[in-house]
Amino acid sequence: MCGIFGCILQTGEAASTIHGGLKKLEYRGYDSVGIATIYDGQLFIKKDSGKIDDVHALHNLDALPGRLGIGHTRWATHGAPYKENAHPHTDCNNQIAVVHNGIIENFAELKTELEELGHTFRSKTDTEVIAHLIEEKMKADLPFVDAVRETVKRLEGSYAIAVISAKEPDKIVCARKESPLVLGVAEDSLYVASDIPAFLPMTNKSVVVQDGELVILSDAGYEIRNILDWKRVTREPELIEWAPEMAEKQGYPYFMLKEIHEQPLSLRNTLRLQDKYLELMTTFLDRAGEVFLVACGTSYHACLAASYLFSKLSFLATHPVIASEFVEQHGKSVNIDSTLLVVSQSGETADTLDAVESARLRAATVLGLTNIVGSTLTRIARVYICQQSGPEIGVAATKTFTSQLSVLSQLALRLAKKRGKVSHVEIEDLEEKLEQIPDIVERAIQSQEEKVKQLAKKYRGKQAFFFLGRGISSAVALEGRLKLMEISYIPSIAYPAGESKHGPISLIEPGFPVVFVCPKDGTHRTIISNIMEMKARGASIIVVVEKDDEEIKKLADDYIEIDTGLPEVLSPIPFVTPLQLFAYYMALERGCDPDMPRNLAKSVTVK
Ligand code: AGP
Repeated sequence: MCGIFGCILQTGEAASTIHGGLKKLEYRGYDSVGIATIYDGQLFIKKDSGKIDDVHALHNLDALPGRLGIGHTRWATHGAPYKENAHPHTDCNNQIAVVHNGIIENFAELKTELEELGHTFRSKTDTEVIAHLIEEKMKADLPFVDAVRETVKRLEGSYAIAVISAKEPDKIVCARKESPLVLGVAEDSLYVASDIPAFLPMTNKSVVVQDGELVILSDAGYEIRNILDWKRVTREPELIEWAPEMAEKQGYPYFMLKEIHEQPLSLRNTLRLQDKYLELMTTFLDRAGEVFLVACGTSYHACLAASYLFSKLSFLATHPVIASEFVEQHGKSVNIDSTLLVVSQSGETADTLDAVESARLRAATVLGLTNIVGSTLTRIARVYICQQSGPEIGVAATKTFTSQLSVLSQLALRLAKKRGKVSHVEIEDLEEKLEQIPDIVERAIQSQEEKVKQLAKKYRGKQAFFFLGRGISSAVALEGRLKLMEISYIPSIAYPAGESKHGPISLIEPGFPVVFVCPKDGTHRTIISNIMEMKARGASIIVVVEKDDEEIKKLADDYIEIDTGLPEVLSPIPFVTPLQLFAYYMALERGCDPDMPRNLAKSVTVK
């Protein structure tokens, strides 16, 4: 996730306005920053790695001439956060500059094609192909706008782009597919940005660009066209009435809620990861003598779910280990045949890195799954995958958790394929189902949010909760419990439901709330028995179930229903979503700030 910004001013210099706009978008990524302007038919660019303030202190981003320009603040996906990978990217002749937010899936093929035509690439990004494609089209005498249109037709994946050309220095051309793009319209200026806060200090009139549209900004105003049929689209600006701090969260009151709602998008992004890294990691897992899944907190819950996935799909036994215990528990037995699959959203968690360091000293192979390119984990892992969830600001991990689950499911499926243990038909079916998950999550949020809100009202006064599940759902129960505990400070317990009778059931008295996570899977019969034993002692039963599961719904005091039709191994992603919402609304009910829970930090860099 990156931030893009562009503007055409009737008077004044664009660079300082772009700089200000990018500052407002810094929450979308801050690995590197860059601005390009046009003056007197010439392109001017300043860019470097680092946060905006640091780059500005070094290069004075405001000192670029011209009243038209584009800018970018980067969240690295393809290519490390170095200067050469910073946007804007240009063509061979420095005539065209592009800023981009999204992922171009077919960039490798396009790059090869362009290299064969003699283009020279300066970066490792997917974005640079866009500049060269436009150059190629303009070489064939297409005007700038047509060249951009023909270029975006060739792009697969997601994008919001803004492009300028020294050959036609009076316009900015933008286009959108899946990544957000909005226009800001003022009397004497036009803006384009990833998000409204970027131009809100200048204008509160905004136009949302839709998927499949191209926009031409010029002194004459804005012109929206449908990319495919080139029909003109008329869309008047709307008035934005958000306060600036609301705008930063796209109208959501808290980042956590925004991030829960972003999950359909972040999950779609995980389905676009580059094949070669997934394949490489699968090969390492296949060859490993033993596999440890190492992480803390929410990331550990993803590992726990992954251990069921690897076992059930790929017939690979793994050891999920809480990172802070790794050295004590396995430090001496790790050796050259051991592989650690290390999961860390931040890539900076001290306990996790400590485990990695000790394993590396004993020649183990380290594979990393993280959200932050350039983090310590990406530097020390033999192979890493960036899950591409975009920045997560809320301390409670939500979208990064479901993205971790998605990547780990993909790895387990690939390994199953490689090992030939599961039939092709079954694999294809699972792959298809995995593709459906973003839509399932979207529908689950839409249909259940209000209900969950009411449940939070009903149960707000409870002193403690149980979260129970069986099989892979016990990982979901643990995560639901962690969310509730960390942001609403309600002591809670979670464990595999079969354990109740070995101790914890003694806590149950009438009205004690017990949340069961119950996908319709092989554990269905036994979880019903577990519900019955709690019910018999007067517990209030809250269940998360499949929509058509009348049998369990009848047993419950309250239910949250999800229409997934997914097999058990893929159920954790949609089943955890209502529990994230439950924790969020419970925090609000109890007057707690869900974004900044007490005593916690987003990245725990102490041991
Ligand atoms: C969960 O909501 C927390 N933010 C926490 O448990 C977190 O998952 C843990 O600290 C690990 O962080 P990491 O993924 O960045 O390594």
